[in-house]
Amino acid sequence: MEYRKLGDSDLEISVIGFGAWGIGGAPFWSTEGDHPSCKAILKAFDLGVNFFDTAPVYGFGHSEELLGKTLKPVRDKVILATKCGLVWDKEQLGAISKNASRASILKEVEQSLRRLQTDVIDLYQVHWPDVDTPQEETMETLLEIQAQGKIRHIGVSNYSVEQMKECLKVGNIVSLQPEYSLLERSIEKETVPFCTRNQIGVIAYSPLASGVLTGKYDKSTKFKDWRSKGIIGTFTGEGYENNIDKVDRLKALAEADGKTCGQMAINWVTAQRGLVTALVGVKNENQMEENLRSVGWELSASQQEKIEAIF
Ligand SMILES: NC(=O)c1ccc[n+]([C@@H]2O[C@H](COP(=O)([O-])OP(=O)(O)OC[C@H]3O[C@@H](n4cnc5c(N)ncnc54)[C@H](OP(=O)(O)O)[C@@H]3O)[C@@H](O)[C@H]2O)c1
Repeated sequence: MEYRKLGDSDLEISVIGFGAWGIGGAPFWSTEGDHPSCKAILKAFDLGVNFFDTAPVYGFGHSEELLGKTLKPVRDKVILATKCGLVWDKEQLGAISKNASRASILKEVEQSLRRLQTDVIDLYQVHWPDVDTPQEETMETLLEIQAQGKIRHIGVSNYSVEQMKECLKVGNIVSLQPEYSLLERSIEKETVPFCTRNQIGVIAYSPLASGVLTGKYDKSTKFKDWRSKGIIGTFTGEGYENNIDKVDRLKALAEADGKTCGQMAINWVTAQRGLVTALVGVKNENQMEENLRSVGWELSASQQEKIEAIF
């Protein structure tokens, strides 16, 4: 496993991180059960993954609880990242709202510390920008809980360059977590260069486009989970069908080299300039094991050219 420094921090994180959204289960995803989820977490740890990313909203606390319980015996060897700023009044998809106010963060951090069974969160990220709360209030609160020793580093997720500039006026952020994959490359032009200039590490989420880049779905697939709801990503209609055409071509390229489509897609993400880690979501240890074979090799110049031609 390769480890890279996360932005302007002392964290050395694995180039593949464990994304714990899926194992949180309902109402977003269906899982194979907590036992396979825990085995996937432990497999990742055994194979060198030291970076685990979750959020309170993933399974409404369940993802944080599973990670906390499973990683407790090795807590000092792992880097735990969670988030704040998404709250819910009922355990339903439609009942989630943004709130990065001082009152909300002070409450949320205590809940996350308890669920994660830890005294300190290594990376605490604002999940989505909350335009109703002044950026100053959010950052000052994060600096306050950092000074209290409850969080080590501050990060943001889904922020624009302008929103990150506002944060930097108040204090330091060490990371940005945006969506990034062969099917979603909008951060390349402005966001990644800005992050590089400001020592903000880029943590890619959904590097498999939430499963599409594994090549296991086709044009007739009907998703039954959050992917049918149009929250993020493209899982229906013409856009989805065009993506499947591209994925079919990537699959052929990968198979010609003895790789899976997903392995080639993850490898590509981790090889991009400015990228620190790819957060991969899995449902069991076999998926984890397969995905960890995405690193330790390089795409040839000819493969890179062919990939650029497809996407
Ligand atoms: N900050 C944010 O707003 C945000 C948003 C989204 C995600 N994230 C983070 O990024 C992480 C990953 O994102 P993600 O879960 O959307 O997507 P992803 O890693 O792009 O895709 C995960 C899905 O791919 C499939 N998969 C993965 N490995 C596989 C394998 N070896 N064989 C077959 N199928 C495989 C599984 O689909 P099936 O379930 O169909 O088996 C899995 O649920 C999340 O867990 C979370 O930590 C953050």
